[in-house]
Amino acid sequence: MPTPHIESKNKDEIAKTVLMPGDPLRAKFIADTFLEDVTQFNGVRNVLGYTGTYKGRRISVMASGMGMPSIGIYSYELYKFYDVENIIRIGSCGGYTPDVKLYDVILAKDVWSESSFAKVQSGYESDVVEGTPELNQRLMEYAEELEIPMHIERIHSSDVFYRENFEEYKEIHHKHGCVAVEMEAFALFHNAQVLGKNAACLLTVSDNLATHEATTSEERQNAFTNMMKIALEMAE
Ligand code: HPA
Repeated sequence: MPTPHIESKNKDEIAKTVLMPGDPLRAKFIADTFLEDVTQFNGVRNVLGYTGTYKGRRISVMASGMGMPSIGIYSYELYKFYDVENIIRIGSCGGYTPDVKLYDVILAKDVWSESSFAKVQSGYESDVVEGTPELNQRLMEYAEELEIPMHIERIHSSDVFYRENFEEYKEIHHKHGCVAVEMEAFALFHNAQVLGKNAACLLTVSDNLATHEATTSEERQNAFTNMMKIALEMAE
């Protein structure tokens, strides 16, 4: 410590539980809006990281950047070098079916990916990896207490946002049972598994490939508060 990508020199600056939005400005929004006694522990590459308290309990929030290589780096360094135990990704996703509507919240029970991330990282051969059941159980309880409906489903982690064959999503939905697509959970869940740590992923539907509905980037930054409130209850 510091690591190549995180400048904090002191493990104690980072809580045991870290929320990870993709966007640094979403991390700042969460710290500004929901946390008290906030300190900033990272600013390298503008990948902002903060620690504070929520309802008196300690929690950190740091951006992951976009894609599996990026979250792969940050989650690995947090788990391995800063003794972080739990990372909850809070991101946006594209719905693969009309059943998941704009602003719906999805808890990723597990994730399918065609990515080589896990194979390259550790020789892991499967194309499915699970979130940590204990974290998922807690997040389901918090969602129920907050009366926020939540889909609990398999999602797709993709390396590619712009596919030449747009229609491919239909096959991925039907063959692998994925209800939505994002770009990070597979690497996060894999890193948690190889390092003996915990990971979960909450998503808000920002666009839908089947219905062609979409939210604006401004809404993406600020309007995903339901998912944030569920995840913030993980503070301890
Ligand atoms: N594809 C991949 N990741 C995403 C999408 C999408 O359509 N929407 C939000 N994150």
